[in-house]
Amino acid sequence: MKVLSVTSEIYPLVKTGGLADVTGSLPKALASCGVETTSLVPGYPRVMEQLKNATPLVVFDDLLGVRASLLHARVDGLSLFILDAPSLYDRPGGPYVDAHGRDHADNWKRFAALSRAAAEIASGLLPGWQPDLVHTHDWQSALTSVYMRDMGCTTPVVITIHNIAFQGQYSAQILPEIRLPASLYNMQGLEYFGDISFLKGGLQTADAITTVSPTYAREILTPRFGMGMDGVLNERVSILRGIVNGIDLDVWNPATDPYLPRNYDLTSLRRKREIRQVLMKTFDLDTDDDGPVFAAVSRLTWQKGLDMLAETADEVVANGGKLIIFGQGDHDIEQHLLATAQRYPRRMAVHIGYDEPTAHLIHGGSDAIVQPSRFEPCGLTQLYALRYGTVPVVSRTGGLSETIIDANDAAMSARVATGFQFHPVTTDGLRLALRRAMHAYVEPKMWARLQNQGMKAKFSWERSAEQYATVYANLIRKSGRAAS
Ligand code: ADP
Ligand code: GLC
Repeated sequence: MKVLSVTSEIYPLVKTGGLADVTGSLPKALASCGVETTSLVPGYPRVMEQLKNATPLVVFDDLLGVRASLLHARVDGLSLFILDAPSLYDRPGGPYVDAHGRDHADNWKRFAALSRAAAEIASGLLPGWQPDLVHTHDWQSALTSVYMRDMGCTTPVVITIHNIAFQGQYSAQILPEIRLPASLYNMQGLEYFGDISFLKGGLQTADAITTVSPTYAREILTPRFGMGMDGVLNERVSILRGIVNGIDLDVWNPATDPYLPRNYDLTSLRRKREIRQVLMKTFDLDTDDDGPVFAAVSRLTWQKGLDMLAETADEVVANGGKLIIFGQGDHDIEQHLLATAQRYPRRMAVHIGYDEPTAHLIHGGSDAIVQPSRFEPCGLTQLYALRYGTVPVVSRTGGLSETIIDANDAAMSARVATGFQFHPVTTDGLRLALRRAMHAYVEPKMWARLQNQGMKAKFSWERSAEQYATVYANLIRKSGRAAS
């Protein structure tokens, strides 16, 4: 079976968050289910730099008014189509923001073009290669199925919602520029609170909607988590399901991780202490060895709730604990966290930045990873933490609620607990969970059990990839096609 995956980021080429981890690791897992995935990605500078031996396939003379070419390359086991459109993608900054952190003003065009190119591939643009199914991810590629249906292409489409907070909402005036008929501006089409939404277009035209955990699939049917899209989803609920993310066990493996100063596994967990020392030096913290080191590696946005963690710093520090926050995001949140850290020199460190080695070092060296998310479709850092013997402290929402087993008495005696959950998602709720974690930390046997149980938990892609493969196969069968 041949699948075209369409995505705005993919690990290891370009990543701002978990979306890249998923689109980068799912194809490898699907390969063992007989699914051959090729992923279409924009030719951002950092993608172009990493290509070796790319093959030119076709030239688009007029892709929404832009000249572009389509390349094929293989990178790290991934089969890629790259949309090389310099006027859209060759510029400083990240995939979505400029060098000053502001959204590129023409994101609507940049991602409509990506989707349009995908639809043309699905419709038979490439001699000898046509997908049996198209898989789109989030609003950036959601217009793919809208274009496909507009072109009369009936190939099945799965759309995965990684985060419903991002909806690609723009003025309806762009419709002619993205070459979509004005007739799509209606309730059953793209119309969204007086504008249009790329995500809504995708949800209305895909054959299956998935999201990245069963809990989030239920949550987004409610106004609070649906963020305006709950009405559309309730109408399409029969094709909605949650499939929890897996992790790449090769990229996140403490036994082989090249970014750790020492490698370890379940039988050599004591080496974590050495990594912890390196971590504390790196973050300029006291290296005394009393309390636990709590850490967060995260985008710094309202979603992630790290403002609540900052408010608990007084108690963590008073109890001999330390706090590390590493990430980047909203300027105001960054400033608030930095100001808080100044009050606790050598006990709390906030570093603004984004890099893979530091993220790995933190997972290896800290005692607990804290994720007080206000909503969390799946979350991957808690899964990486489990694999690294680092105990997760998480809010009970979305994927966090179903991937971490709270250390209550029943779960402890059944030897299945892996971390600490809190609810309601408030500063006081978090404070209580941190208190529980600090009590457990001073009981070495209990802490070691949590670490052990976490490290044994299974979060490989195997089961979830099979679920995606089943969704694909069912749609292909329903559409009356035979998969190639
Ligand atoms: P989200 O996709 O909402 O950001 P996830 O938990 O699914 O949340 O995935 C986050 C991914 O981004 C993880 O791989 C995490 O390690 C990575 N990440 C987040 N912040 C940073 C950072 N500052 N530096 C490096 N990696 C980061
Ligand atoms: C999103 C979500 C996160 C999820 C990731 C990958 O960015 O915020 O919870 O793990 O996508 O699916």
